Parts: sequence; C-alpha cells; structure tokens
Amino acid sequence: MKRRDFLKYSLLAPFAFSAVGSLLSCGGGGGGSQDSKNPLNLPSEGGGLLGILRLDPQTLNTTAVNSPLFEIEASPDSLEILPGKITNNLLTYKVGNYTNPIIVLRKGQQFSCNFVNRTGEKSIIHWHGFRAPWRSDGHPAYEVGDGGSYQYPPFTIIDRSGTYFYHPHPHGRTGYQVYHGLASMVIIEDDDEDNLRNALDLQLGVTDIPLIIQDKTFDANGNLVYNPMGMNGNMGFWGDTILVNFTVNPYLDVERRIYRFRILNGSNARPYRLVLLRGSERIPFHVIGVEGGLLANPVQTDEILVAPGERIDILVDFRLANVGDVLKFYSLQHNLVGMGGMGSGGGMNGGMMNLINREFEVLEFRVVRDSTYDRQIPYQLSEVTPIDTNGAITQNITLGMSMGSFNIDGKTWNTSDPLYDYGYNYNNGDVVVFRITNMTGMYHPMHFHGFQFQILSRSSGPLRPTDLGWKDIVIVAPGETVEVAMDMSHNFGEEQVYLFHCHILEHHDAGMMVNFRVKA
Ligand code: C2O
Ligand code: CU
Ligand code: CU
Repeated sequence: MKRRDFLKYSLLAPFAFSAVGSLLSCGGGGGGSQDSKNPLNLPSEGGGLLGILRLDPQTLNTTAVNSPLFEIEASPDSLEILPGKITNNLLTYKVGNYTNPIIVLRKGQQFSCNFVNRTGEKSIIHWHGFRAPWRSDGHPAYEVGDGGSYQYPPFTIIDRSGTYFYHPHPHGRTGYQVYHGLASMVIIEDDDEDNLRNALDLQLGVTDIPLIIQDKTFDANGNLVYNPMGMNGNMGFWGDTILVNFTVNPYLDVERRIYRFRILNGSNARPYRLVLLRGSERIPFHVIGVEGGLLANPVQTDEILVAPGERIDILVDFRLANVGDVLKFYSLQHNLVGMGGMGSGGGMNGGMMNLINREFEVLEFRVVRDSTYDRQIPYQLSEVTPIDTNGAITQNITLGMSMGSFNIDGKTWNTSDPLYDYGYNYNNGDVVVFRITNMTGMYHPMHFHGFQFQILSRSSGPLRPTDLGWKDIVIVAPGETVEVAMDMSHNFGEEQVYLFHCHILEHHDAGMMVNFRVKA
C-alpha cells in the first residue's frame, strides 16, 4: 500500500482504528508488510498450483465402470508462501503435475477417482456439495491409513453448475489436514453456465477467478502453526495472516470490465464479512450464486458474510472505477462469536477476541486498463424451483454445549462406530424442514452432506443475498433459529448414510457431527 493510501484509510475510513491496527500487526504475524504485495496466484490450464484440470466428459462417459478416471494423491509438500521463506509442512493434493487442481466437470458426466493417501495419517476425500452416493462421499467410515488408497465407485454428476469444494474428512483430523493445505474446488458446468459465460465473455482463470480464502499463522521460519483456541480448542483455529489462493498480501490487476469471483471460504473457523472499498466508499457488486450454483437472478449488495465451507459467486463491474483506482476487499468485524455467555464456556480472553474479531485486508484490485467491454449482467441466470413444504416433516435441532464441547441435540460423534444410528432416519422422497436453534454463544455454519437445501427463514431478520438459492451450509448465529427445507429424494438404490455437522472444522473434529439416514 502506498503511503498516500495509508493516510486516506487512517483519516477517512469509519473503521480507521481497527484497519490501521491490522496493518501494523500484520508484519509481526508473518504476513509481511502491506508495502510488499504479491500477484494473486491464478489457476491456469497448464497445471501447477491450482491448475485447471478438465476431465473430458466424452472420454469419461465411455470409460469402463469401476476404473479410476484419475488418481489423486495427498502428500507432504513445500511452497514459498511468505517471500523468501519456504513453508515446509504443507500437505497438498496432486494429480499428475497439478497441485490442488481445480477440477472442472460437466453435468451428466461420470465421476470417479482413486485416492492415494500419503499424508502420514488416516485420510479420505469428501466431495463437498455435489450429490454422490454415500460410498463415494468420503464418509469417515471409508477413511484409509497412510499408504492406503480408496477407489470411489463411479457416479453421475447430477448437480447444477456451480462452485463446489473438496477436502479431507477423516474423523478428528479434518481441521489439521485442511489447515495444512488439503482444500480446493470442483467446478461443475452446464447450459446455464455456458450462457452466463457467453453473455459476459468470462474465461476461467482470467476473468472468472476462483478465490480460496484462508487464515493461517506462520512461525519465524515460515512454517504453519496450528493452535486452535479456547478450552480444548473449542473456539477453533483463527489465524493472523490471510491467504488467497496461497498468496499473502495479494493484488490483482484488472481491466474496466465485469469479473466473476468464485469465493470459497476454506478457513477452519473464520467467517469473512466482505466489503469492496475504494477508500472508504463501498462499491456495490452482485451475488450470482451460492453453494448449489447460480441464483435465479443476480442480487445487488455491498456486503457478504461467508462462513467456512460456503461458496459465494459474485460479479464485480470495474467500470464503476477509473483507471488508476485501487479497490480492496476488506473483511469487517462480525458479531458471530462471544454473545450470550460464551465467555466462561469458551475460556476466551481479550487477545483471543481481538484475533477472532479482527479486520483484514483480503485482496487488492488495481484497475490498470480501460476496455471496450460493453456487456451487461443478464437478469435471468437460472431457475430455482422452491421446495414444496406442504406436508413436510418438521425436525427440530438444538445446537448446544456441555463440558466445553459443542453438540447436536446433546449428541456427539460416536468415535467407536462411524455408522452409529443417531435417530435421524428418513424415507426416500421425504421433505424435511429442519428448525435449527443455536443455544450457544458462538456461531455454527451447519452443513448437510447428500442434499442441497433451501433456507426458509431466520429468526434474526430477513434472509441475506447469500441465503438464497440452493445451499449446503447455513450460518446459525448465537441465539438464532433458522429453518431450512430439504428434499430427500435419491435414486442411489440403497440406504444412504450422510453426515450433518458444523463446518467449523475443530467443532466437527471434536464431535459436533451426526449421521442421518435415508432409505433406499
Ligand atoms: Cu465440507 Cu462434511 O464437509
Ligand atoms: Cu460436505
Ligand atoms: Cu460449530
């Protein structure tokens, strides 16, 4: 950041104090000074970090059933993340010469792979958000030890175009493994996607840009430090340095045109309350998609809240800026932690609260070029049919805490039986309205495997733009009740065992997770 910009922020921004605070403290946390920005790592077709791996739908459809369509290995890695230092304790996924590839699939194609585990401990990959039969979903019952492998039974991609997520799911180790680098995206394409791409002239990796946002803490040598906070780590891990696509202090040069950003919060516990600022002025943008793909219509907003695991797809029109302008994504303070008597239970202190509720600069945009771009955002993006909740089953769920650990209806994961029956049993085709009430002082981004859902209501107020469309995560704030509707129809031919858990990874690792079953 130039000196001039720095002064502009200090004097004008309404959150000047905390913004300046985070600028200063960033240096000590290993984030480097804000003067040394790094070009954002972009996914590219040729392989490498976040290489764009297109699994050709044609070949895949003709591949013999039960043969792995590709092999993906999880193993140790190292990378220069902080300038001049090598982070040696990373874990990454590799497919050939691709590292943590963004896997691009076409709706209707077959999907399968052979997972090879060389992490040094048990692991399994979960394909987060797109529908898979449970034996291909990465349930912890299928975790394999170091040196082991798991072949995912092939299945057809039936979900809508959108941004999905893949990451480890071994019981008790998910937080550790995701934090150390095992996390990337699956992008599904269909006709709606083609239309949007044509209408706006978007190109993946150039003007359609995945942004994987994570918070980390580094030691003096540049290695990752994993130290969840609170009593037995029950507050989860909160880092002091923000990475976007493994880039610290990132910037991106942009033209005066529309860009699409596929935001994935790949953090363990931290939500981002993102605003786009030019100086202290908020620049509006459009939400066009969430976890389960495109919304019916774009929704304009000037702020989004993105919890761990959520994917929020937005359009930013840099024609609202001038050549030479600098815009920034900032993450503002949130009120998702610490209300309602969390203090004693969480064992929190002031330092912890500062780290949890800190403001961060996330990504700088430098508007470097004009453009003759003349496209406009289409009004109709896709269709979202509301789930019919007439005659639906109501399932009340209470998120609670006892003896320092968070639970679901008083239940926690049964570590001796991954297929334990927690009593959430449904028939194929049931429509279930889950009324989820958070009785704790900390937010929980609750996630269902197996089916996308629709958010019906929030007791705290109206739905946010990021609550619309098809979702697989719902933020439940302290004291809040949310209602979501889910249609449990499947044609996987046998009883399905799926997970329902908190996507704060330390909560999930500590047992804030249950199975639910859906009959054949
Ligand atoms: Cu992304 Cu079971 O989680
Ligand atoms: Cu999932
Ligand atoms: Cu939680």
